[in-house]
Amino acid sequence: MLDISIKNNVAQVTLNRPEKHNAFDDLLIRELTDAFQQIDADLSTRVMVLAAEGKSFSAGADLSWMKRMAKYSYEENLADAEKLADMLKTLDRMHTPTIAKVQGAAFGGAVGLVSCCDIAIGSHNASFCLSEVKIGLIPATISPYVIAAMGERQARRYFLTAERFSAATAYRIGLLSECCDPEDLDSTVDKMAASLLKNGPRALKEAKSLVLDYRNQEVNDELIKNSSARIASTRTCAEGQEGLGAFLEKRSPSWVVDDQLTTEKQKPTQRVTDEGECNVQ
Ligand code: COA
Repeated sequence: MLDISIKNNVAQVTLNRPEKHNAFDDLLIRELTDAFQQIDADLSTRVMVLAAEGKSFSAGADLSWMKRMAKYSYEENLADAEKLADMLKTLDRMHTPTIAKVQGAAFGGAVGLVSCCDIAIGSHNASFCLSEVKIGLIPATISPYVIAAMGERQARRYFLTAERFSAATAYRIGLLSECCDPEDLDSTVDKMAASLLKNGPRALKEAKSLVLDYRNQEVNDELIKNSSARIASTRTCAEGQEGLGAFLEKRSPSWVVDDQLTTEKQKPTQRVTDEGECNVQ
């Protein structure tokens, strides 16, 4: 149900259950969680694209699976819901930069997947819906990420109305970072990934950590001190020195490499030794 390919340091995780509009059940949730963990542990992967096969990005949680779960106890439902929550948390907290590539319907839990990615690029044919209340459910596990992505004002509306909204609206309210013609979706995502690959791999992860660690934090003396420590350690680490040297010497930094790898369908490899790591607090 999940395809993983790696090319030129970019991993693509593709939901591949098009006959059910890529709805996710317990098995797909487990596969996604494992994939996100493995890709994040593989230092050679510098960007991850979350994509989907077929007409829709995803119809969210598998409703047949949810219906079956109603026969189980509250405790069993809680344990099951926690697996979905864990998958979303794993995606949200990945150190690797993530791009969602969205075509067609992105409903229910799929809006959560999109919200957990750093960048979301949608085709003009994409449509979104927080449809849960229509079927007597609530967008619970996805809500922290969706509220962060679209803001409280919009979440109040779309959680309650369950109305379908367009890619243009998703772009306007900040759920999508970019919107393009369907035929340009591949190239727009490729360009975004290529622009990320030009940046320092470690700097990317640490820049993302700034957002994850500082969001919703009070800007107090402790946080300000912590931010100074972070820049001090990145300046002195090997990657920071290489980047500064490359700029002053008018050359490309060592991490900018063309077409290193050939396409291969594979599971990501294990983490390699993390040498040269910046000493960030
Ligand atoms: N879970 C399980 N199966 C789903 C599904 C879901 N979330 N969404 C769609 N499917 C299945 C349909 O039951 C149907 O199965 P069948 O061929 O065995 O009858 C198949 O996918 C095709 O769906 P269909 O509704 O005929 O396709 P469509 O192109 O007309 O519409 C959607 C696509 C995604 C817009 C529509 O299926 C839909 O609204 N799905 C529900 C999404 C939802 O509310 N998700 C929130 C979950 S909390």
